[in-house]
Amino acid sequence: MTRLKWGMIGGGEGSQIGPAHRISASLDGHFQLTAAALDIDPERGKSYAVQLGVAEDRAYGNWQEMLAGERDRPDRLDLVTIATPNATHFEISRAFLEAGFHVLCEKPLTMTADEAEQIVAITSETGRICAVNYGYSGYPLVRQMRAMVAEGELGRIRLIKAEFAHGFHADAEEADNPRIRWRYDPEQAGTSAVFADAGIHAFHMACFVAGQTPTELSADFASMVGDRQLEDDAMINIRLSDGALCRLWTSAIAVGRMHGLTLQVFGEKGGLSWQQQHPEQLHWTPLNGRTQILERGDAALSPQAVRASRIPIGHAEGMPVAFANIYHDLAEVLRAKKLGSAADPLALDYPTALDGLWSMRAIEAAAKSAKSGGAWVGM
Ligand code: NAI
Repeated sequence: MTRLKWGMIGGGEGSQIGPAHRISASLDGHFQLTAAALDIDPERGKSYAVQLGVAEDRAYGNWQEMLAGERDRPDRLDLVTIATPNATHFEISRAFLEAGFHVLCEKPLTMTADEAEQIVAITSETGRICAVNYGYSGYPLVRQMRAMVAEGELGRIRLIKAEFAHGFHADAEEADNPRIRWRYDPEQAGTSAVFADAGIHAFHMACFVAGQTPTELSADFASMVGDRQLEDDAMINIRLSDGALCRLWTSAIAVGRMHGLTLQVFGEKGGLSWQQQHPEQLHWTPLNGRTQILERGDAALSPQAVRASRIPIGHAEGMPVAFANIYHDLAEVLRAKKLGSAADPLALDYPTALDGLWSMRAIEAAAKSAKSGGAWVGM
């Protein structure tokens, strides 16, 4: 199996998410880092790329040079990951998609729903893939939840409780630290802070597991620390297309919560409960029955969950493996495209530009609703 050629923009040395992508993309041996523009500082980016094994002539100072250098090569990149700050995602994704590359973009896909619409339109016109890294949907037991809902084991879904609450922006003494302050500045962050940054993962996961799209939402935003102009806490009610109601709480001031991404799904025949900090167990309670613990790695789980597991039951996998499942899916789809064959249907659950668009619509609708006293806003 030859490795697919992989390019990376952003995610340079010391970045938060760059290492997770490199571990995930290489985990199954599918991708070889072949070209990169890793850093806002051109020299630092080039030298780090070479350190990571990229040939000198494919280690670029910025993404424009990378596009110019890569677009006409016969040994073209199979996938380009974009892991730069949010405001650059639209411009870079558009340029690479239009040049015929497949893209995996970090979330949020864009800064506005209008831009996300444009990306979706480009993918339809060009047939290129634009995946969005809602990487937590790659956890085996998240895929198990989705499969159980799709199989009808929970019956009609009535209610979903989704949370992504952490406490890392709770310290009022730190509010002016530039690394935190920009996140609450509308000029730099857009219309929403914690919902756009963290809550959006919970939003995506709720829709992904339910297999439903949102129809309308009502939001209450709060700014609890200092003079922040954007929300550091939000409670959002979302109505989904098949009648489910999602209640979503997201926060950056929940002291003691770490990476508090959780999902509970309540259907007419049973309920599921999963926490990202304990991702190896899924609690399943059939109506009027006892709660069972489903373990990641159990061969009796759904084919989707089995495909997404690597290590035997009882040994923790974790977040880079969840992200690796997005790369695993993309490798399957990209190879099928090259061969002109059909991809494994189990590989088609990776998040796409359409998911990125729903997220941008949700962010805009939530900001609008919060400004109008929590009025329901259609999506
Ligand atoms: P960061 O600030 O830690 O790192 C950004 C990296 O991009 C740095 O290496 C910087 O030099 C480089 N960079 C900046 N502008 C660039 C440009 N124009 N061209 C090339 N390189 C450039 O940021 P972090 O936290 O790694 O976030 C990056 C993206 O990943 C954001 O969009 C963020 O929302 C997303 N993210 C996603 C997560 C997830 O769970 N899916 C988790 C954390 C971040």
